[in-house]
Amino acid sequence: MRRQFFHFVHRFIAFSISLFPLINADFADTVFQNGSIYTLNPSSDKVEAVAIKNGRFTYIGTNNGTSKLIGNETTVVNLQGRMAMPGLIDSHMHVVSGGLFLLKCDLNYQPLTLEDVLVHVQQCINMEPEEEEKHSWLEVVNCDYPTLTTKSGMINKKDLDTLKTTRPVSVRSSDYHTVWANSEALKLSNITADTPNPLGGNIGRLPGSQEPSGILEDNASYMLAVPPPTEEINIAAINAALKLLREAGITTFQEAAASTGWAGAWEKVKQNGSLSARGYFDYRIEPPASKDKIEGALHDVLNVTSKFNDASQLKPEPILKWQAIKGFLDGVITYPSNTGALVEPYNMPVGNTSQWAPDNSTLIEPYWRSDILTLMVERLILNHIDAQFHADGDLAVRIVLDAVESFRNAHPNYTDYRIGIAHDELTHADDWPRFAKLGVDAIMSFQWAQLSSFWIPNTFNSMGSERHDKLEAFGTIAKYGRPIVYGSDWPIDPLDEFLALKVGVTLAGDPENPHSPASQGPQYTGTFPGAKLSREAALRAITTEGARFLRADKHIGSLEVGKLADVIVLEKNYFEVPEDEIGRQRVLMTMLGGTVLYVAEGVSFGDRVVPKFPNGNSTTALERKRVGMHRRYIRDAREHRCRYAH
Ligand SMILES: *[C@@H]1O[C@H](CO)[C@@H](O)[C@H](O)[C@H]1NC(C)=O
Ligand SMILES: *[C@@H]1O[C@H](CO)[C@@H](O)[C@H](O)[C@H]1NC(C)=O
Ligand SMILES: *[C@@H]1O[C@H](CO)[C@@H](O)[C@H](O)[C@H]1NC(C)=O
Ligand SMILES: *[C@@H]1O[C@H](CO)[C@@H](O)[C@H](O)[C@H]1NC(C)=O
Ligand SMILES: *[C@@H]1O[C@H](CO)[C@@H](O)[C@H](O)[C@H]1NC(C)=O
Ligand SMILES: *[C@@H]1O[C@H](CO)[C@@H](O)[C@H](O)[C@H]1NC(C)=O
Ligand SMILES: *[C@@H]1O[C@H](CO)[C@@H](O)[C@H](O)[C@H]1NC(C)=O
Ligand SMILES: *[C@@H]1O[C@H](CO)[C@@H](O)[C@H](O)[C@H]1NC(C)=O
Ligand SMILES: *[C@@H]1O[C@H](CO)[C@@H](O)[C@H](O)[C@H]1NC(C)=O
Ligand SMILES: *[C@@H]1O[C@H](CO)[C@@H](O)[C@H](O)[C@H]1NC(C)=O
Ligand SMILES: *[C@@H]1O[C@H](CO)[C@@H](O)[C@H](O)[C@H]1NC(C)=O
Repeated sequence: MRRQFFHFVHRFIAFSISLFPLINADFADTVFQNGSIYTLNPSSDKVEAVAIKNGRFTYIGTNNGTSKLIGNETTVVNLQGRMAMPGLIDSHMHVVSGGLFLLKCDLNYQPLTLEDVLVHVQQCINMEPEEEEKHSWLEVVNCDYPTLTTKSGMINKKDLDTLKTTRPVSVRSSDYHTVWANSEALKLSNITADTPNPLGGNIGRLPGSQEPSGILEDNASYMLAVPPPTEEINIAAINAALKLLREAGITTFQEAAASTGWAGAWEKVKQNGSLSARGYFDYRIEPPASKDKIEGALHDVLNVTSKFNDASQLKPEPILKWQAIKGFLDGVITYPSNTGALVEPYNMPVGNTSQWAPDNSTLIEPYWRSDILTLMVERLILNHIDAQFHADGDLAVRIVLDAVESFRNAHPNYTDYRIGIAHDELTHADDWPRFAKLGVDAIMSFQWAQLSSFWIPNTFNSMGSERHDKLEAFGTIAKYGRPIVYGSDWPIDPLDEFLALKVGVTLAGDPENPHSPASQGPQYTGTFPGAKLSREAALRAITTEGARFLRADKHIGSLEVGKLADVIVLEKNYFEVPEDEIGRQRVLMTMLGGTVLYVAEGVSFGDRVVPKFPNGNSTTALERKRVGMHRRYIRDAREHRCRYAH
């Protein structure tokens, strides 16, 4: 961390007065004083006070410097020494899916037994008015399936059939690969003993028969006849997600796999005035099957981006940008999926021994052919379209870097592109320096660098110890000169940005944070192998580096005169709390473009600070459906000797 972060900067007074005399002549709308305000400007200055007018900063400096900016209509907020910083920029989220999950019955990633799951699902069923909901699907999400099967053995449809309901029920694992359905769900979906497995999917069968067990893997899970969400439901999901983003302090998000089918819902939310974050949408594309399909694919991308992108400059009110694509190069390296594309094979168990050995049959081709990717990247860049690629295994990461290298060789002076590689869970040591050399961004979900049931023991076994220090190697990629960009991947992980930052800084979870696997027991409290980030580098990944990746760094990401006033106030000072406590944070206020959107329950910044979105009651229907979020439910659950709350 840089030393000057801790110095108050008096030269700022002179700086802002000399450069912005006209702006400073006006009284401010809002002044924050007496704070520990981290600007994240290029010299990492920390200041006492800022002033805001018309949604932008007009002054950054000392308490005294704001005195002449305070008129009788200025709202003055005394931060009482609290930390304020730029609003968070999350460069990889699934906002619509996450919002849809919020409307569903949520097992909240908790390590549950079969009995725990059934108790909670029954509560969800009982909570809904029966007449309305009698025949509708009950979808349960965020199930920790590895823990469920470890604790309760193999499960099947008959377990769900014990629920008191006639409704079709499906339970989806948090990694998205497995769905567990009851008999009614299978019946409505016509999945029978005669149904063959789909391509890329598996219909589990009961022992010694062809009868479906209710366990549906990968493509088989999409055979369930769940009706797609209507636009009304998508709007409800978006509004639910935006509420969570405000509470998390996220003022800008990038939707990492956007479908044009959602664009109408987003536009309606914006027109309604309920859009409360700046939105960037990565239009999801499929790999062209052959080289002669590339121009058609590009044409489709340009059609979509020109139709939906708001090309205007960022302003205080949030807008919706479609300026990038998303492509999937592989699956996930997690055992037993092993669908991440690797340079060297996965290790697999040898017979019934405890030995693991390389198995060449696990070597898979990335979903994009390298030559097609190379051509597509060139066509995208030359047409001013940015890209984020999902690449989890080291081979998938490598072919993106190769594609950009090829572009650079052909166009040595063309550097105005943004190419992000999301996840990068396994990277090859030869490729670490290439991120900096080629100007490619690693977009990392720090929460994955905690010990958890997704690593211990079998994903680590299948990687082999010689590859352990090449997992989640963001600290090393940063050391080679390319700052990291952060993306939570919510709802794949819980939305807990300060837990994620804690993991980025320590490579260890937090036993006191129920979102962290470390809270599940001592087997997950250790430190992940690899290099850590400084607190500042981790914080920049979710502020300035995100802004740079989105081409928005002239407007957001740091607190500087002339930039938009996207600010959050924190309960604790991120830079001063002990490392163990970085992940125990609360956002007290979220401001976007000078408008206060959110003030935490029970907190006041004075009578004049009235948030645009008042807090609902903490026991809203949404939260009641979530394991661990409903007090009465926690008590009931404890009486069942269950382990929901920590
Ligand atoms: C702020 O103003 C007060 C009163 O005018 C003065 O005593 C004090 O020295 C000033 N502080 C700084 C840091 O300039
Ligand atoms: C601020 O002062 C002006 C001029 O003195 C006055 O007209 C106005 O009503 C005042 N506003 C408030 C909110 O007190
Ligand atoms: C500034 O904040 C500190 C807490 O850090 C508090 O003790 C002090 O009273 C505040 N000063 C003013 C002028 O409000
Ligand atoms: C299931 O089969 C019935 C009868 O053949 C048919 O009416 C229904 O549309 C099918 N449902 C699905 C989801 O395929
Ligand atoms: C899953 O199904 C989709 C569409 O039906 C298909 O394109 C894809 O290749 C399948 N996945 C696998 C791994 O086979
Ligand atoms: C518009 O805002 C109201 C009030 O916040 C909300 O109830 C409604 O769902 C919103 N509609 C849309 C389309 O966002
Ligand atoms: C352009 O995109 C729109 C909206 O997705 C679609 O309806 C239309 O068919 C597309 N046109 C072309 C020429 O691809
Ligand atoms: C493992 O396999 C060997 C040979 O196939 C067999 O003799 C042995 O009983 C097996 N051990 C277990 C624990 O299943
Ligand atoms: C796996 O493939 C490598 C490279 O093709 C080869 O050298 C090795 O012998 C193969 N291993 C096995 C067990 O087939
Ligand atoms: C590209 O950059 C190099 C070195 O900076 C320079 O010598 C060369 O003239 C540039 N080429 C073009 C086409 O601008
Ligand atoms: C919140 O709860 C109180 C008392 O339980 C109730 O009177 C009020 O209507 C609720 N407000 C909302 C927005 O649900």
